[in-house]
Amino acid sequence: MAQQPQAKYRKDYKAPDFTITQIDLDFDLRKSHTVVIAKSQVKQLTAGSDTLTLDGEGLTLRRVEINGTEWSSFEEGPEGLVLTNLPQQFTLLIETEIDPSANTSLEGLYLSDGAYCTQCEAEGFRRITYYLDRPDVLAKFTTKITADKSAFPFLLSNGNKVGQGEIDGGRHWVQWEDPFAKPSYLFALVAGDFDLLQDTFTTRSGRDVALEIFVDKGNLARASHAMTSLKHSMKWDEDRFGLEYDLDIYMIVAVDFFNMGAMENKGLNVFNSKFVLANSDTATDTDYLGIESVIGHEYFHNWTGNRVTCRDWFQLSLKEGLTVFRDQEFSSDLGSRAVNRINNVRIMRGPQFAEDCSPMAHPIRPEKVIEMNNFYTLTVYEKGSEVIRMMHTLLGETNFQKGMKLYFERHDGTAATCEDFVKAMEDASGTDLGQFRLWYSQSGTPELTVSSAYDIEQKTLTLTVNQTTRPTADQKEKAPLLIPFDIELYGEDGSVIELQCNNEKVENVLHVNQETQEFVFENVNEKPVISMLREFSAPVKLTFEYTDEELVFLMVHARNEFARWDAGQMLLAKHIKQNVARIQKGEAFVLPGDVVDAFRGVLLDGSLDVALIAEILTLPSENEIGGWFEEVDVDAINQVRSAIKQRLAVDLCDELSAVYHTLHQGEYTIEHEAIGKRSLRNVCLGYLAQLDNGDALVREHFNVANNMTDTAAALAAANHAELPARAELMKIFSDKWTHDGLVMDKWFMLQGCNPAVGALANVKAQMSHPAFSLKNPNRTRSLVGAFCNNNPLHFHAKDGSGYEFLTDILIQLNASNPQVASRLIDPLLKFGRFDKDRQALMRQSLERLAALDDLAKDLYEKINKALDATS
Ligand code: TRP
Ligand code: ZN
Repeated sequence: MAQQPQAKYRKDYKAPDFTITQIDLDFDLRKSHTVVIAKSQVKQLTAGSDTLTLDGEGLTLRRVEINGTEWSSFEEGPEGLVLTNLPQQFTLLIETEIDPSANTSLEGLYLSDGAYCTQCEAEGFRRITYYLDRPDVLAKFTTKITADKSAFPFLLSNGNKVGQGEIDGGRHWVQWEDPFAKPSYLFALVAGDFDLLQDTFTTRSGRDVALEIFVDKGNLARASHAMTSLKHSMKWDEDRFGLEYDLDIYMIVAVDFFNMGAMENKGLNVFNSKFVLANSDTATDTDYLGIESVIGHEYFHNWTGNRVTCRDWFQLSLKEGLTVFRDQEFSSDLGSRAVNRINNVRIMRGPQFAEDCSPMAHPIRPEKVIEMNNFYTLTVYEKGSEVIRMMHTLLGETNFQKGMKLYFERHDGTAATCEDFVKAMEDASGTDLGQFRLWYSQSGTPELTVSSAYDIEQKTLTLTVNQTTRPTADQKEKAPLLIPFDIELYGEDGSVIELQCNNEKVENVLHVNQETQEFVFENVNEKPVISMLREFSAPVKLTFEYTDEELVFLMVHARNEFARWDAGQMLLAKHIKQNVARIQKGEAFVLPGDVVDAFRGVLLDGSLDVALIAEILTLPSENEIGGWFEEVDVDAINQVRSAIKQRLAVDLCDELSAVYHTLHQGEYTIEHEAIGKRSLRNVCLGYLAQLDNGDALVREHFNVANNMTDTAAALAAANHAELPARAELMKIFSDKWTHDGLVMDKWFMLQGCNPAVGALANVKAQMSHPAFSLKNPNRTRSLVGAFCNNNPLHFHAKDGSGYEFLTDILIQLNASNPQVASRLIDPLLKFGRFDKDRQALMRQSLERLAALDDLAKDLYEKINKALDATS
């Protein structure tokens, strides 16, 4: 590298010397030479400063004027445009030229299938014009867009449309005005030809809001679920948080080329089409639920993100953790709370815990950043949401909502910090969150080790709780956190034993806040079974020596659904760990009949929600299992997981088959009950596929399927069980859907995680499938991402072929789309967790990348951290 990328530190935050209060943008859209004129009102904030550095990247500067006359007192440097000798207040005009057709990074202004669109978060606006591209500069925006009328009939930007007209040469223009001051990362522009779905929503104060969803031509019929989800989101935010929408129009545009899920630009969300388009032929139940949650997420950002934004990017979790918490609550209030919690906890215990012990470990509020795009992580989003959830648990809904109200009273219309949020919660509820704040600055996963002693004479139960957090790559010293630890005690007959201390009833949520602590409960008349970390009350790893009997008891008797699922997972975990150890010693696989019977009991329990039964019967992923070991043995883990699946299928064959047949449904609906039934039926199919008549059953399932959920389940079952039907069914599917990239993503994903021999050669072959393109992030993630993340046996092949394959792809993506490259590299960074031979091969791959001449700073940051961590 010519110049080593520089890190920024949270501690170095400094308010800007100048601010911009108003910006009038004028875009003349042309494929390879778009002209942008930005006229800004600039005001000095720090007396005496007369130098202003504006951020900019890849811009061709054509003109600078101050107060209407040409300005020559400036220099273009590597950091941007440095203006000198400035007055205290002035109008700044900057004219730049950019090339959207050459923009493959999908940041700034780019073309997606013939439509112009922008992505400015986090630091993309600087690829459009020179500006103070930082979230603590809030300006009112107007945007004038001029383009060819027939190719781009829709010209969209933030706020309200205030003018339009036609000009010579078949061009037209539209002018937009956003009445709310905002940082540049929330700016958006879209120009194209779309189908438009329109609706309206009346807010609770009686204002009518126009709702508009723009999709590629021909996709109108696939937009209605997104519209329904949007209306549900608007209603829910009023009901649960008392928050109303604030503009007269809310627009959503679906695009096929997008680096992430979606973007909350004020009044003009841009979405990955994956999170908008759905009908029963093309989308699975999971897709439908994903759309609901992402539509909700972006809508909820209007208050948590846009009305109150972030002071600097280190505070990203202020908006993301809180908004993820809100979208999780939205999905839980509309659907099954238990199933939502289970899926969120799976993400925490799998990929988030893995991130916490990787070279990229960071607190939810990072201290040091080279490339901000690298910090849109599971830690900032998902763990950030768990931190908000813990405050909700500690304060309760009423006080939490008081805290939200105070937060908006204090910070509406400004750029705030995580500290501001915690302070509002603290002040509104009168709760001391002093020690709790450590969750913002400490990285890594705390480990809680619990032991219990029952005293039959005294009738007391003593719980000894020990907490430790191991050193992480970014931080050696760890301190005890405040951990809300939710427990419940059960008597032999399943009755609840009240928690009492000093003869008084105490809360279920214990406050664990020291390294070692004892909790003594009185009047416990029999030795209880203890349900712990209920609802996953804190993002920690729990160790407690449960007996099989206790876990089976909790699977049946725990009062809440999540705890029943969790007991099942702990039972599986225990036997998976024991069997991995056996395999490593060359011993035979053992699974006691009682364990199988516990799952039989669940399958036959008519009182359980079918959706929950499906979750209980779903084994933890190979990745999650890997996280339980100091050194990951991919082969042993794969063997054990398959053996358990096979054993359950064989022993529960009759029950699985009976449930499979009873749950057959005629018509397809997306009611939650129907989703639950399909989910359990398809889990049963996954087990039954492994048995003797599995091939016939899966073919039949595929042939009669009247919706994509069932079709995809048949393919997945054929894929995982390596059935003879696989190739034939995959071909039928690809012949039918080759024209539709979003649908083909499901197919590419199955190619990616095909367990059969020759998986890598097959993945390589599919890269020349007509529906595949490395330029499209969805396709890349489906095929390459699935192979590297969800096919451990082949990705970690002993000869290093998996690593080499990923490295070759990363070299291409480093040049075309560094943000996607940087997300894809993650499995290579975690080499420290594998055996010496694999470590050496993974390290070689990273070194090959490190030696690239034009290594983007996204990859630079991660590779250097990984190589440093173990050198
Ligand atoms: N703010 C977006 C969200 O969470 C995230 C996002 C969308 C994003 N596109 C991006 C972040 C591009 C960085 C770069 O809803
Ligand atoms: Zn978000």
